Amino acid sequence: MNVPDLRDDAIVLRLPSEGDIDAIIAACQDPDIPRFTRVPSPYTREDAATFVAGTEADWRAGTSRSFVICDRQTGALLGAVGLHARERPELSEIGYWIAAEARRRGVATRAVRLVSTWAIGDLGYVRLELMTHVDNVASQRVAERAGFTREGIRRSYTTIGCGLADVVMFSLSPGDLANGDAS
Ligand SMILES: CC(C)(COP(=O)(O)OP(=O)(O)OC[C@H]1O[C@@H](n2cnc3c(N)ncnc32)[C@H](O)[C@@H]1OP(=O)(O)O)[C@@H](O)C(=O)NCCC(=O)NCCS
Repeated sequence: MNVPDLRDDAIVLRLPSEGDIDAIIAACQDPDIPRFTRVPSPYTREDAATFVAGTEADWRAGTSRSFVICDRQTGALLGAVGLHARERPELSEIGYWIAAEARRRGVATRAVRLVSTWAIGDLGYVRLELMTHVDNVASQRVAERAGFTREGIRRSYTTIGCGLADVVMFSLSPGDLANGDAS
């Protein structure tokens, strides 16, 4: 399994481990996480343990490549980010959440940039999709700041929160990186 060393001057990404379970449970109690992602609610210890235990197998199978996002100085867990294959890995969706107390300081933007640059630049992925609930203005801003192109609204397109949602579809392609849009 080839896990890259993805970091910048503020954050470092690594595989989740059992020692992260308490912090993941605590973060996922924030209602905006289940509201705007596919993280279940209520979020239990079993959910966190399943996420952590399944990560390596998903990496090996190529179905998902998930990381936890940590503060580079303190090591504190700030959030999670992952790539999830659609029909095939080269066409993947990127998903993420940030703990409430770590928001509004650029963590999501940094993490999305690191993972998407690696996926397209090193793994040769050809399209990354980033879908946000239409009401999720914060995540739409993250997508724009990370260089994704807004394609438009897809109605009743995928399950987010407790049901099928209208989403804003963003994508990132190799041409976007070549043009420097994601830097
Ligand atoms: C959406 C989310 C990931 C943003 O994380 P974050 O680390 O706070 O985002 P950043 O600090 O990188 O902010 C990026 C941009 O979004 C803006 N932004 C962040 N939160 C915002 C909010 N609540 N309202 C308006 N704009 C917001 C920031 O100001 C910044 O824009 P700027 O550079 O023009 O100032 C976080 O709020 C979250 O985890 N929400 C719940 C789960 C979720 O929505 N996941 C994404 C599903 S698609």
